[in-house]
Amino acid sequence: MSTSSRGSYTAVLPVAGLGTRFLPATKATPKEMLPVVDKPAIQYVVEEAVASGIDDVLFVTGRSKNALENHFDYAPALEGVLAARGDTRSLDELAKIVDMAHIHYVRQGQPLGLGHAVSVASKHVGRKPFVVMLGDDLIDASTPILQTMIATHEKLGGSVLCLMEVDPTEIHLYGCAQIESTDTDGIVRVTGVVEKPTAEEAPSNYAIIGRYLLQPEIFDVLATQEPGRSGEIQLTDAIETLINSNAGGGVHAVIFTGKRYDTGDKMSYLQSVISIALEREDLGPALRTWITKKLANDI
Ligand code: UTP
Repeated sequence: MSTSSRGSYTAVLPVAGLGTRFLPATKATPKEMLPVVDKPAIQYVVEEAVASGIDDVLFVTGRSKNALENHFDYAPALEGVLAARGDTRSLDELAKIVDMAHIHYVRQGQPLGLGHAVSVASKHVGRKPFVVMLGDDLIDASTPILQTMIATHEKLGGSVLCLMEVDPTEIHLYGCAQIESTDTDGIVRVTGVVEKPTAEEAPSNYAIIGRYLLQPEIFDVLATQEPGRSGEIQLTDAIETLINSNAGGGVHAVIFTGKRYDTGDKMSYLQSVISIALEREDLGPALRTWITKKLANDI
């Protein structure tokens, strides 16, 4: 059983991918910095970590990391102008971003795959269970799935994945899990994982989404992990090895049934912006009116 206590986890946020599905916007800007209404996507993810009691965040960055680093740092010139204007609301909002968590950076060097990105976090994390959160996976804040994952780890030990049921025609876009039920509703045992299988190969229609609670044994596996699908060092392949060797105490998963967006995908990104804006008190009513008129060809 884990000896971790809440708040002692590091959240590893890999943001070194090339974001090719969102070119040309992502040529010089990391996709995680694309705004979802008025905050970059990555800020929602850090806020989710903080809401789950995590205050140590490690970004695994690649090229064009400056925008991201600057976002989580002080901006003296801007703050000076806001102070001179007496805009305390904006100042407070900016201060919150900097004070939210202890933020660290490590460079991936080459984008050799998600598994490789996670492996470069090993020195910072040490031999403790840790969380991986994908910066382009935006999870609706009303479903505190990360807290459920942490609670599951603290009860059962081992690693914990997050699964979402998808249409079988979409499973080839995700890692896929083979599962067995447990005594607890919404929590399953994972008996195998496969990266982006065809619908015929897929052992289920449960997709692995971008939240992981991993045992440090994953670093030992990743150290010798060969490139897999697309020539990348895949985290899914390393998890399969963890399952087969039972290293770190097995793998469970929680089933996510809330709202989730892939902000690295153009359509899902647009859906995230519209959904979140519609839910906002300051924007929702006017946007709803505008969309209704737009769809009626009135404007
Ligand atoms: P994706 O496969 O969604 O990211 O990786 P990508 O490669 O940037 O996307 P496309 O397909 O080219 O549009 C999932 C997450 O893993 C990170 C990405 O930044 C993303 O958050 N990642 C991926 C790395 O940090 N390093 C890598 O080598 C690969």
